[in-house]
Amino acid sequence: MRLEWLEPDRRLRVHAPAKINLILEVLGERRDGYHEIDSLFLAVSLCDTLEIERVDGGSVELDVVPAFAGGPGGLEAPPVEGNLVLAAVEALRRRADAAGRSPAGGLRLRLEKRIPLGAGLGGGSSDAAATLVALDGLWGLGLPLDELEGAAAELGSDVAFFLHGGLARCRGRGEIVEPVRVGGGGADAAIEGFHAVLVSPAVAVPTPSVYKKLRELRGVGRGLTTQTPFTTMPPESLLERLREGHLLANRLQEVAFLLFPDLRRLKEFLEAEPFLAVQLTGSGSTLFGLCRSASHAERIAGSLRTRLPAWEPSRTLGRVLVHAVRGIPGWSAGRPRR
Ligand code: C5P
Repeated sequence: MRLEWLEPDRRLRVHAPAKINLILEVLGERRDGYHEIDSLFLAVSLCDTLEIERVDGGSVELDVVPAFAGGPGGLEAPPVEGNLVLAAVEALRRRADAAGRSPAGGLRLRLEKRIPLGAGLGGGSSDAAATLVALDGLWGLGLPLDELEGAAAELGSDVAFFLHGGLARCRGRGEIVEPVRVGGGGADAAIEGFHAVLVSPAVAVPTPSVYKKLRELRGVGRGLTTQTPFTTMPPESLLERLREGHLLANRLQEVAFLLFPDLRRLKEFLEAEPFLAVQLTGSGSTLFGLCRSASHAERIAGSLRTRLPAWEPSRTLGRVLVHAVRGIPGWSAGRPRR
């Protein structure tokens, strides 16, 4: 997440990144209906942009605009109603009220969407986290991180990750976030050393259906994992192995392929490319291919953009978007200050 003040105290812009899951283990069901996960999230350089302005009066207005023709993932812009950005405004307002620091005035928000929807890239969650951090700055609240994490967890399982960004191990239902620290000052370089191509078909995968199917298919990745690489490897070796395309895992992948067989065909198509490894992120529908370098990623992305439209299953998968990305470090500059 990156924040820029456009006008002091009044208007700011935040860049809200997408994420990929390098590792996503599902450890079992929980009593609250969610699933216990152990996952390694990486923030990547495909970003939505959110601008927030304080305005007179009490109204909160949100405009959602696709950053390119046809909308994200070939879909229309996500509806304003029910958008997590608005839920985040209300969640933060409640916390401000509870702290006796009710913010005055209204807000005008403009969200430019680049991250496809229902794509396993966490776009909506990232927008929500960006809203929390930006408003905390704009309203001058300076809430402690655990307050923001509390608000994030109310909004969705992935939202808390985006308060940190970078590379993090996420547990519980995803809301328990431990940033992965590598030795010395090399943490940012270790993260920026990840390069990938995101391949997003215009298919929105409903996450609850994937978890439901996982429960029905006892044995398909359900509760099978008691030991993950996190428990057995130091972070430096884990990252090195992952960057080379080893140890990737996603327990939801097989289930998503059963529900959307063309995603499996897309993965097979991508496996013929010179990627280090190919995997689904989250519950899909985006697949990512890991690359050795930025130029390696750009080369494959360029070739895919010309060849995918002619590939027969892309008729059911709709317009497939291809983005070359790199890992981006976390929110290391500290919380926004005025
Ligand atoms: O928390 P969030 O709203 O993002 O989750 C969407 C849905 O995904 C949940 O309603 C639940 O069905 C499923 N989910 C789950 N276990 C998780 C995270 C999400 O079952 N750890």
